[in-house]
Amino acid sequence: MAIDLRSDTVTKPSLAMREAIAHAPVGDDVYGDDPTVNSLEERVAALFGKEAGVFTPTGSLANQLAIRMLVAPGEELIAETNSHIVRAELGAAAVFSGITTRTWPAPFGLLKAADPLEIARPDSGPYLVSTTAIAVENTHNFGGGTVQPITEIAALRKGADALGLALHLDGARIWNAHIASGVSFSEYGKYFDTISVCLSKGLGAPVGSIMLSTKERVSKARIWRKRYGAGMRQVGILAAAAHYALDNNIERLADDHRRAKDLAIAIAAIDSSLIDPSTVVTNIVGLDLASMPFTAAELSQRCRDAGLWISALGPKYARLVTHMDFDDAQCAQAIEILKKALVA
Ligand SMILES: Cc1ncc(COP(=O)(O)O)c(C=O)c1O
Repeated sequence: MAIDLRSDTVTKPSLAMREAIAHAPVGDDVYGDDPTVNSLEERVAALFGKEAGVFTPTGSLANQLAIRMLVAPGEELIAETNSHIVRAELGAAAVFSGITTRTWPAPFGLLKAADPLEIARPDSGPYLVSTTAIAVENTHNFGGGTVQPITEIAALRKGADALGLALHLDGARIWNAHIASGVSFSEYGKYFDTISVCLSKGLGAPVGSIMLSTKERVSKARIWRKRYGAGMRQVGILAAAAHYALDNNIERLADDHRRAKDLAIAIAAIDSSLIDPSTVVTNIVGLDLASMPFTAAELSQRCRDAGLWISALGPKYARLVTHMDFDDAQCAQAIEILKKALVA
């Protein structure tokens, strides 16, 4: 069996999760009749101190509904250069919401409040684009699972308030950020106007994300969700998986973080230019192949031939993501495969 570290989205629902799915009370969610979806939305909203939530099939849609709520057509969202919203949602914000984006670069995607605040241009008048919102990704995927410092988030909120800007949190992996930092979900929640969270990443549910905000924004977002074709019916079977994931799979993320650190330490011992293990604080291990004589695609192929699947996300950038279907024995095997594959 291949060891699959391409993403934490590759996990398969456990038997116990499938049991929860099988027994879920359901109803037609487009009519608001699915009790399992309703309780999930309420549960996650309460966790983050928000008034309401809307269940979506993907994190991308949860992000896009939030953007739709915060930024009017022709206005601007600013986000970090390598954020999922600008790099991996295929221009959805432009296509669906008719907005523009501008980006600031940050090493490892690490937030410094001053960076977006310096480029924000609210109320730009009739000739220039006005900024209306800033997006923060926590943890930062392409940055290498970076946890955003709560002090910088607080400073960003203060600066955004002074400029009259809204803040969106792409919290696809906020669960990992919480486990790594000890910062509570409600503390993260209080700084943001809209939040997207994913149940289908480290938490191991097969499908499902939630967009959280005020009751007013969430009711409007429900209309847009339907308009985008994502009004779902007896979707409590998926919400039940999400409930199960919240009950059972948050604390165990610490194991994923430990194994990611072990991988990083072993890889740095092969060649220290590949990764600085001190930067690995959650479940993502990003490898910088700049000084290696092979590309990320070549490395990924070498690993694949040996039974380890990893992602090539740039010509010289490879990514390994630990998750709940990856254990200590597989971690030891993965290290052995990498030792051979990374030899120049
Ligand atoms: C940071 C971040 N946000 C959003 C998403 C989107 O999630 P989905 O694949 O469910 O659309 C991802 C997916 O990997 C992600 O890493």
